[in-house]
This record gives sequence, C-alpha cells and structure tokens, in this order.
Amino acid sequence: MKKKRGFDLAEKRLDVLSKSFFSFLLKQNAGQIVLDLGCGSGWVGIAAAFLHHKVFMYDIEDNFDLSKKVDFLTNEFYTKILFQVKDLTKITANMFPKKVDLVYIGSVLHYFKYKDAKKILKIIRNKLKKGGRIFVSVSGIDTELGVGYKKSCPINNRFFLVSEKNMKRFFITEPVTLYKKREFIDLFENLDFKVIEIKKTAFGNFKAVFEKL
Ligand SMILES: C[S@@+](CC[C@H](N)C(=O)[O-])C[C@H]1O[C@@H](n2cnc3c(N)ncnc32)[C@H](O)[C@@H]1O
Repeated sequence: MKKKRGFDLAEKRLDVLSKSFFSFLLKQNAGQIVLDLGCGSGWVGIAAAFLHHKVFMYDIEDNFDLSKKVDFLTNEFYTKILFQVKDLTKITANMFPKKVDLVYIGSVLHYFKYKDAKKILKIIRNKLKKGGRIFVSVSGIDTELGVGYKKSCPINNRFFLVSEKNMKRFFITEPVTLYKKREFIDLFENLDFKVIEIKKTAFGNFKAVFEKL
C-alpha cells in the first residue's frame, strides 16, 4: 500500500489560476501594482507582496487579519499591502490606485449579478494599464453546483441560490450566477479584453487570463 503522510495542502491550493498568475508575476519587475479582489484569506496577495509588489486587497468579509498572518515581518512589508473591507458591488473608481498592472479575481465573480460583474470590470478596466492582465475564475453552469439550479434563465437575470443539498455541500448560502464558457468570455471581450488562455477544470469551472487591448 502507498505510504500516506497527510494532505499536501499547498499543492491543493495552488490551482491552475494561481499557477498562471505566479508564473507571470515572476517574470515582471518588482513594484507591480496588483489588485486582489475578493481576496478571502489573502494568500495570493500576501505571496505577491513577498515578491516585492504592491498589493491592494478587498473583500466583503474580514477574514484577512494580516497582523496575525505576517506578524513576524517588519513595517516595511506592511506598506506593500493595503487591505480594505469593501462590497465590490458598491465600488467607485476613486477607491483604487490610479494605475493597475495586474488583477486577480479568484472564484468571486459568480457571487455577483451579471450586470454588477460588468460594472465592476468596467471600473477595473479603466484603471488597468494597456496590456495589463486579469487572472479570473468562475463557477461553471455544467458543474455539480449547477444541479438543481435554474440553468435555463438568461444570464442577465440568472442569480439564484443553489440547491439546498449543494448549499451544505459547497458552503454557499448566497445567490450566484453560474456561467457558460461563452458568457464568461463575452463579459471580457465586450470590454475590449482579449483571451490569453481559458481552461475548463475537471469540475466544469472556468479559469482564464485576459489582457486589456
Ligand atoms: C470562494 S472565496 C475566494 C477567495 C480567494 N479569492 C481565493 O481564490 O481563494 C470568495 C470570496 O469572495 C468574497 N466576496 C463575495 N462577495 C463579495 C462582495 N460583494 N464584495 C467583496 N468580496 C466578496 C467572499 O467574502 C470570499 O472571500
């Protein structure tokens, strides 16, 4: 029998999207301005700051608690991270830095109505430099999450709770917009982004990199 020595959590956490993000980031000069939107526990942004970039992180919840996570670091490091509790559906352009180089939005956009996702991405687009990239993932409609969900509704009004079984299974109690691949791409192409790469995971979710034209 194969010997077992616990879960390799790092391998589980570093998904296709974060791998693409970090392999790109490692080729950039230090001091990139990075947005981590819906940062959750914040590990992507913190790692980017370790790589000497300036990171602006936002989430509707304060699960971040930077002081506990990196309390062994100096004040100099703290100046590389700004975390704010914000509802991204209520953002305005002036809360972001003037120019942004890179954006990371991992597993967040599906928590917004399609019209709100468009509004947020339009604001971000205007902040992003030409050639700047967005690394983004969404839950797909043809997934386990989509079982018992109102799939037939057009994307503009598709914002529903998942089935009760899935609420418990996936810990999602808020309404979501589940995406078809074309709808996900349209969201970005209509805002003058081009697809650099898009992958469908084994579970049917989409992970993509878009570049501002
Ligand atoms: C599945 S977690 C993803 C966390 C992280 N981006 C990652 O890739 O691991 C989704 C995150 O989106 C945040 N979120 C959901 N709705 C939001 C909103 N309206 N404004 C800001 N953050 C939101 C949640 O609080 C949560 O931290």
